[in-house]
Amino acid sequence: MDKTDYHARIETPVMLDYGVYLQVDKLLTCQKPLAEMVNGDELQFQIVHQVEELWMKLIAYTLVDVLDYMERQDTHRVVTLMGRVHRLMRLMTDQLDVLETMSPKEYQQVRLQLGNGSGQESPGFKLLLRLPFDLWDKFKAHYLEARSLTVADVYDANYDHGDSYVVAEALIEFDELFQKFRANHVYLIHRSIGLGSKSLKGRPVDLLQAGARHRFFPELWDVRCDMTDAWGASYGVVRDAIHEDTDKVQQAAKS
Ligand code: HEM
Repeated sequence: MDKTDYHARIETPVMLDYGVYLQVDKLLTCQKPLAEMVNGDELQFQIVHQVEELWMKLIAYTLVDVLDYMERQDTHRVVTLMGRVHRLMRLMTDQLDVLETMSPKEYQQVRLQLGNGSGQESPGFKLLLRLPFDLWDKFKAHYLEARSLTVADVYDANYDHGDSYVVAEALIEFDELFQKFRANHVYLIHRSIGLGSKSLKGRPVDLLQAGARHRFFPELWDVRCDMTDAWGASYGVVRDAIHEDTDKVQQAAKS
């Protein structure tokens, strides 16, 4: 089938005000010309990556605003903006699945186009790996030290579901969603190139598994373990059953 006319329409939009404001003409030239695509999957490969970069731009921009609102202790703004970040992280994770419709062979053809580039070089991702350090510093300064609180106070001793608690929970949710993005990305690699292979930088792909376990805010995760140990100290590791004598219960079940 001759697709030339369809492709020309896809690539050259009619620019009314909507198109002008959103720079749709420029946007549609950010992908390789359709005539030069190596196969039918290269367009989705480029678009998914580009859209993910845009979401990361918006997440980074939003987190910078969050830093500002944390400094002002404007908790309502912090929580609303972190809610936006959480939604964006879920979108990013869901969108990875689009690429699972690409066959391993078609990916190999696309891969030949990539030079030795890899997601490790993603400008948006690199910034997102850095920003949590600043988030933690602001949280510590304005939601812990300024209020003479420790993480243990916020979660246990002085727990009141107050500002420090809701901001801490917003941070840990971001951390969890980021780990889920990395874990889903590992599944995508399972599907496309296989986990036993090497990246275009020559590194074993399964090194990514360690990244998927990386935690931005270890103190917020550790407090849960500390609480379980402290609250469980009275019974040790395994406590007595709360139902009646096990033998009697089993005999009753048999009869
Ligand atoms: C078929 C699709 C994909 C394959 C086969 C793939 C493969 C890989 C491989 C092999 C690496 C390791 C690179 C290295 O060690 O140098 C990597 C890293 C990465 N990729 Fe992908 N990727 C795919 C799709 C995506 C998409 C859609 C994104 C969107 C953001 C993405 C973002 C990243 C990021 C951020 C890293 C660094 C991850 C980390 O350090 O945890 N990848 N990818």
